[in-house]
Amino acid sequence: MSNVILVGIQWGDEGKGKIVDYLAEEASLVVRFQGGNNAGHTVIIGDQKIVLHLIPSGILRKETICAIGNGVVLDPNVLQKEIQSLKEKGFSVGPENLIISHHAHLIMPYHRALDVMSEKRKGELKVGTTGRGIGPAYVDKYDRCGLRVGDYLNLDLFREKLKANIEFKNLVLQKVYDAEPISYKEVEAEMIAHRDWLVPHLKDVSYVIYEAQQAKKKVLFEGAQGTSLDVDHGTYPYVTSSNTIAGAACTGSGVGPTTIDKVIGVCKAYTTRVGSGPFPTELDNEMGEMIRTKGGEFGATTGRPRRTGWLDAVCLQYAVRVNGITDLAITKLDVLSGLDEVQICTQYVHSNGKKNNKFPADARALSNVKPVYESHPGWKSIPEHCDKYEDLPKEAKAFLARIEELTNTKVSLVSTGPDRKDQIVTHNLF
Ligand code: IMP
Repeated sequence: MSNVILVGIQWGDEGKGKIVDYLAEEASLVVRFQGGNNAGHTVIIGDQKIVLHLIPSGILRKETICAIGNGVVLDPNVLQKEIQSLKEKGFSVGPENLIISHHAHLIMPYHRALDVMSEKRKGELKVGTTGRGIGPAYVDKYDRCGLRVGDYLNLDLFREKLKANIEFKNLVLQKVYDAEPISYKEVEAEMIAHRDWLVPHLKDVSYVIYEAQQAKKKVLFEGAQGTSLDVDHGTYPYVTSSNTIAGAACTGSGVGPTTIDKVIGVCKAYTTRVGSGPFPTELDNEMGEMIRTKGGEFGATTGRPRRTGWLDAVCLQYAVRVNGITDLAITKLDVLSGLDEVQICTQYVHSNGKKNNKFPADARALSNVKPVYESHPGWKSIPEHCDKYEDLPKEAKAFLARIEELTNTKVSLVSTGPDRKDQIVTHNLF
């Protein structure tokens, strides 16, 4: 198996970075295919904590090439800082190991401003975005007026497109938001300053993947956010602005679906969500607080406290279906250690009184469901750096077995702590 898609199957923050870092040791190529610097993928190596927002987590492996696909929206300011910070930590990053699609759209300063203003205007109905300009950048992509990284190759055209954009954005800023206009000169200076270092990274990413596939090399597609944040299949409107499900790996990088061998779904042993929107198993109590504190559940991008709750198998079953998940990777099992009992939601009671395991097609209906829980005996602790399934407490094994049963999917990896060493692999993932 050499073409693997890895996606989050909850509301993001499932611990994908750590699993990508592990798989990247074997992969020749790791590709980001959607989202932007709204993501925050954390990898812990010894006493170093590395948070990546845009660059695939594969960059921490010497031999691995990382690609930013056409489906990503890219803020050059963030990318520049991220490259700098990686270099300061001793990792090498250059055009030889980080390639960027000509077709990836640029996040412009006005996208960030519009993101914040649009949220403010929505008031109570705000999405709770990361404020990084992700939504407005995708809006321009689909309005076909966005600037792409490849536009840096023709500065005259770049300036022409930018002028047209600023003209229109200023109308919106002044007439809709009653805000100050932005200066073309300032935006131009900020954006053009990135041209010289960015252009050498440009590559036909789709073709590079094709070549790797032809040579039977291992390619990993790294998803960001999670299924329930998918713009079509998530809890709309409380979602991000890209497709986060496995299908997006193909459209967001330029490969055909027939080349994909496996789809790994990453989920925590419990659930978290940042921002607004329905969350059936949310624990707005001491238990929720305990999970937040012990699990360090604060946003890697914005620092916001994450909402926490029990594992939701109804949500997982839905995610397994829409992604075509072949393998599960369960993270943060250690966070639940020390509890007398742990709960799994196996069904919802819907507003009409019906009880079943259907994830409502109308996301608004999700706000009205009541979770039905199954209680499982907890486990005291997990041995330090546990990397063997046999060494897990029997209650933890039973919990994992129940997840397999409920999702009809095998658990191939279990993460038992933050370090690279804290990992059990039960089935080969490539
Ligand atoms: P946006 O992606 O910044 O537009 O935010 C839309 C929603 O997605 C908000 O609820 C964010 O909190 C959420 N979101 C975006 N990226 C992530 C992520 O990487 N992890 C978790 N939530 C995210």
